Amino acid sequence: MNAPDAQAIQQAAARLRAGALVAFPTETVYGLGADATNADAVLWIYETKGRPRFNPLIVHVADLAMAETLGTFPPLARQLAENFWPGPLSLVVPLSPGHGLADVATAGLDTVALRVPDHPVALDLLRATARPLAAPSANPSGKLSPTTADQVRRGFDGKVEVLDGGPCTAGVESTILAVDGNRLIQLRAGALPRETIEAFIGLPVEQAAEGAEIAAPGMLLSHYAPNAHMRLETAPNPGEAWLAFGPAQTHDGPTRNLSPSADLHEAARNLFSMLHELDATGAGMIAVSPIPETGLGEAINDRLRRAAAPRIPPPERR
Ligand code: TXA
Ligand code: MG
Repeated sequence: MNAPDAQAIQQAAARLRAGALVAFPTETVYGLGADATNADAVLWIYETKGRPRFNPLIVHVADLAMAETLGTFPPLARQLAENFWPGPLSLVVPLSPGHGLADVATAGLDTVALRVPDHPVALDLLRATARPLAAPSANPSGKLSPTTADQVRRGFDGKVEVLDGGPCTAGVESTILAVDGNRLIQLRAGALPRETIEAFIGLPVEQAAEGAEIAAPGMLLSHYAPNAHMRLETAPNPGEAWLAFGPAQTHDGPTRNLSPSADLHEAARNLFSMLHELDATGAGMIAVSPIPETGLGEAINDRLRRAAAPRIPPPERR
């Protein structure tokens, strides 16, 4: 991979400031970025992804100082930001007065999801643009998230400009936490394990109940879906594709192993790429081995359950 040079970053920043979309790498997945203060640019994200307008976007910033011009950080949120940023943690906090964000970026809510990504290209781009960047995962709504620049290009038929920063190292989206007084509510399991947050902060992290008052509006049941159907916690039948996990497994059909050594970090990093690859074989069904529900397993299983959920309309392939 050729990391984008300073000139490529400056050009991308100029395009973003002029209202264009630019996809860029983060440590979790590639994001489809737009100037979060420009309503037309942000609307273009929804249009390009085919994303429902009620689903607010994560706003990316270069550092906590920039975040504090957009959101009001209660002490717990500040402690988390100081410890885990840059990193795969999105914090949902009340909007600051005079924040300047386009209403469409927050879908009209009075809160905003903020994060500082841990990727040199993303950070250089944020500094060069000097604007907050709204960036959902750079895939058509409902489809698999991209962890390489090629997956972004293919997903949008080459119509989206992409800064190539190589494959993402974490591989699943950020953990989303709402801070409500002294309560921490996990709205989406992600690349920062719940146990890691609890160990640092010394408080339990609650799981948001389905349909709860505080929720991530984008947590639709069917999401992250390949074209193939999926069966979870199982072994493959002849002819099916197999997404395996753990040592010494063979199968007479397209097979990928998330981690032969059963390492959850490796499995998270491989998850979306291997699903993209198995899907590209044209298999009608992908069987997935059981994966432990601890640490990063929570986020991996969340994505797999949504990928396997019934879809409306049905996928293109049977
Ligand atoms: O890792 C990530 O978070 C990636 C990279 C590109 O940073 N971004 C990402 O964005 O996953 P997206 O748009 O695919 O997911 C945003 C999620 C949605 O579930 C949305 O509902 C939730 O964040 N969200 C955004 N603003 C919110 C708010 N104010 N309150 C509750 N949930 C919010
Ligand atoms: Mg997404």
